[in-house]
Amino acid sequence: MEIFADADEACAGLAAEIAALIRANDAAGRKTVLGLATGSSPVRLYRELARLHREAKLSFRNVVTFNLDEYYGLSRTHPESYWRFMHEQLFDHLDIPAANVNVPDGTVARSEVFAACQSYEQKIRDAGGIDLQILGIGRTGHVGFNEPGSGRDSRTRLVTLDAITRRDAARDFQGEDHVPRHAITMGVGTILEARRIALLAWGEGKARVVAEAVEKPPTESLPASFLQGHAAVRFLVDAAAASELTRAKHPWLVGSIAWTPEITRRAVVWLAHAVEKPVLKLLDEHYSEHGMADLLTEQGPAYGLNIRIFNELQHTITGWPGGKPNADDRHRPERAVPHPKRVVVFSPEPSDDVLGMGGTLRRLVEQGHDVSVVYQTSGSLAVPDEEAVMAAEFVLELTQQGGAGENPEVAFAREVRRQLEAKTAFDGDTAEIRRLKAIIRRGEARAALKVTGVDPARAHFLDLPFYEQGRYRQFRIGRADVDIVARLLARIQPHQIFATGQLDDPNSVAATCFEIVRRAVASLAGENWQADCRTWLYRGADKAWDVAEIEMAVPFSPDELATKIQAIYHHKSQRSQSPVEAGRGEVWQQAGQRNRETARLYDRLGLADYEAIEAFQRHVFSERHPEA
Ligand code: GLP
Repeated sequence: MEIFADADEACAGLAAEIAALIRANDAAGRKTVLGLATGSSPVRLYRELARLHREAKLSFRNVVTFNLDEYYGLSRTHPESYWRFMHEQLFDHLDIPAANVNVPDGTVARSEVFAACQSYEQKIRDAGGIDLQILGIGRTGHVGFNEPGSGRDSRTRLVTLDAITRRDAARDFQGEDHVPRHAITMGVGTILEARRIALLAWGEGKARVVAEAVEKPPTESLPASFLQGHAAVRFLVDAAAASELTRAKHPWLVGSIAWTPEITRRAVVWLAHAVEKPVLKLLDEHYSEHGMADLLTEQGPAYGLNIRIFNELQHTITGWPGGKPNADDRHRPERAVPHPKRVVVFSPEPSDDVLGMGGTLRRLVEQGHDVSVVYQTSGSLAVPDEEAVMAAEFVLELTQQGGAGENPEVAFAREVRRQLEAKTAFDGDTAEIRRLKAIIRRGEARAALKVTGVDPARAHFLDLPFYEQGRYRQFRIGRADVDIVARLLARIQPHQIFATGQLDDPNSVAATCFEIVRRAVASLAGENWQADCRTWLYRGADKAWDVAEIEMAVPFSPDELATKIQAIYHHKSQRSQSPVEAGRGEVWQQAGQRNRETARLYDRLGLADYEAIEAFQRHVFSERHPEA
C-alpha cells in the first residue's frame, strides 16, 4: 500500500516507472506488454504517459497492450465503449501501432464468445504474458468486471454486471436502463498471472472497498482481495482512499503511536462508540482493554481525559456558523468579528449547496451575514432529456397561446425540441440542449435559495468552461476556470468560504471544482482579505464527517430540518426518474438522514440531543501546484 498526497503525484511516479520499463525492454530488444484498465482512476496516468510521449520522446512502438474488459453489446464506436475510451484517453496520443492494441470485442455473437475469450487469453500468452497490469477497483470490489462471485482461477469470459456497478455507470449512460447488463472481462486468474500489478484508487468513495480488499481474508465476495496472493502487487491510493484502512483510521490498534491531539480525540470517540458509553462514563479499564493503555499512562487517568475530549466536542457545537457577535469566542469555532461577514458558498453543481449546508445557509442569512452562493457549473449534464422536452414545449405552448410570431425564443424552443427528438440514447447534448438544461437548473437553484432566504441577486452562475466543454470522468481544468473564480473572490473579498469536494474522486465534478477554488485562492495569495478569511468544508448527502473530524457542528430544530429538505426538494430534475429508483431513496431523504445521524452520534457521546446537525471541517489551502 502506497499512500500519496494526490492522484497526480502517484500517477507521475507510476508513469515514470512504466517509461523506465519500456526503455529497458527497448534496449534489450524486447516488447513491453501492458495490461490496461478503464474508468476514472487511470485517466491521470494516461495523461502523464501521453505527456512523456510528447515531451520526453517516450515511444510506444514496441508496446503491446491488453485491456481488461469491454461492455458486451457495444460497438467500438459507441461513446461509452472501452475501445473508444482507451483511444480517446491514450492510444490516439501515442505512436503505438494499431495492431498492438487489444481490447475485448463486445460485438461477438453469443455462440462465439467462448472462442473469442480463449483466443484473447492465447494472445496474451503469445505476447509473453503481461509485464505490468494496471487496475482500478469498483465499489463492489471488482477488478476488471470480475464481480462478487468470481473465483480466483476465473479466466476471460462473459459476465453479468452487478446492480451496484450498473448504478455507478448510470450517469455515463444517461440512465441506468441504458447500461449494458453484460461484459467480457479478463478473469481473476488471468490478472494474477501478470508479473506486476498496480491498483489505483482515489477519493473517499473507494475507502471502504480498498480497506476490505487488503484487510479481509481473500474471498470470492470481494474479488480484489485475491490480489493479496500476488507476489508483486501494489495499491496506489490517495489519503482519502486510504482513510478506512485500520492503520489510518485506528492506528492505535496496529501498534504504538504518537498521541497527537487529533488522534487522541479520534480514539476516545471511537472507544465511546465501541463500548457504547458516553464519553464521560469511559473508565480506565475501557481504555486498557482496547489497546489504549499507553494513552492512559501518558494522559490519564480516564476521567480527566474524558472531560478534556468532552469539552472539545462541546466546543464544536454552535448555533452561530458565522460567529456570535459580542460574545467571547475563545472556545467557538468561528470568530465574533467582523459582523456581519461576507460569506461565499461554493456549490460545484446547483443543489450541492442546499444538500450539504441548506440549514446553515439559512442561519447565516438570518444572522445578518452577506451570503453569496456561487454555482460553479451549470449542472446541465445531469438533467434528463424529458425535463428539457417539457421545458421546450412549455415555451412553444405559451407563445402559441399568446399568438406570438416566430421570435428568437420560439425558434430556440422549436430547435431544441427538434434536436431532442433526433437524439438517440447515447448522443451527447448539443449546445442548445445544454443551454436549456442549464436554465432548468438555474430555476431550481433560485427556488431553493428562496427557501434559504439568500438574496437571488447574490446567486452567481459561473457555468465554468471545464464543465461545458467536458464530459464525466474526463474534465480538464483550464486557465479560464481559475480566472473566473479568482475574479469573483477578488471582488467579494470574503471573510468565510464554504466549499466541498476535497475528498472526492479527483475526476469528479465536485473535486474538480474544489481544485479550481484552491488554485484561485493560491493565485490571489497575499491579498489582504485572505489573512482574515476562514474556509470551511461541507459534505454531500452520501457521506457525513466522522464526529471526531468535525470542527463546527450547527444544530437544527425539526422545523429547520424540514425547511432544508424543502429547499433540496425544489431541485426537481435531480429527483429519481422512475418509481423503482425512487424506492431506493431520494437524495433529499438521504440528506435529512445524514444530518439526523450526526445529531444522534453527538447524543450518544453524551452531548445534547438535537434533531439534526450539519457539520464542517476547517481547511487551510496549501500552496502546492498554484499553476492552472
Ligand atoms: C469499471 C471498470 C473497472 C474499473 C471500475 C472503477 O467497472 N470495468 O475496470 O476499475 O469501473 O471505475 P472508476 O475508476 O471510474 O472508479
